[in-house]
Amino acid sequence: MEQEHLIDTLNELLKGEQMAIHIYSRTKKLQEDAQVAHMLARFEQDHKLHAKELTKMVKELGGEPNAKLGMPGLMANVMSFINSLRGPEHLLRQVYDGEDKGVNAYLERLEKLDPVHQAKVKQMLEEDHNHLKWFKDRMEEEKKERRKQILH
Ligand SMILES: [Fe+2]
Repeated sequence: MEQEHLIDTLNELLKGEQMAIHIYSRTKKLQEDAQVAHMLARFEQDHKLHAKELTKMVKELGGEPNAKLGMPGLMANVMSFINSLRGPEHLLRQVYDGEDKGVNAYLERLEKLDPVHQAKVKQMLEEDHNHLKWFKDRMEEEKKERRKQILH
C-alpha cells in the first residue's frame, strides 16, 4: 500500500487517541466515585501510550504526526463532548459510547494497514475492548445496585 495513505490512516487513529486522552483527562475530574475516577485515569494512560506508539509509527514512515495540525478541530470535538455530558449518572454511558466509536474507527481502518502495522494496532484494539468491557460491567453493577435500593 502507498506510504502516504498509510501515514494518513495512522494519523486518523492518532487523532482519535488524542481526543480520548483529552476526554479522560477532563471526565476523571468530574467523577466523584474514586474507583471510577481511578479507572478513567488508567484508561487515559493507555490512550497516551497508544498515541505515543502511533506517533512513533508515523515518524518511522517519514510522516508528520497529527499532533499540532489538528488541534483546533480536535478541541472543538472534545468540548462538544464535555458540554454534552448530562451529569455523573450518565457519564459512564457517554464515555462508553465514545469508546465504542473509537473501537469502530479502528475496525474500519484495520484493513487499510499493512500486516506489520495491523498487528501493532490490533494490540491497541485489544486494550480498548477491555475498556469497553470494564464500562459494561460497571454499568451492570450500578444497575443492580439501583434495583436493590428500590426493592428495599
Ligand atoms: Fe479506550
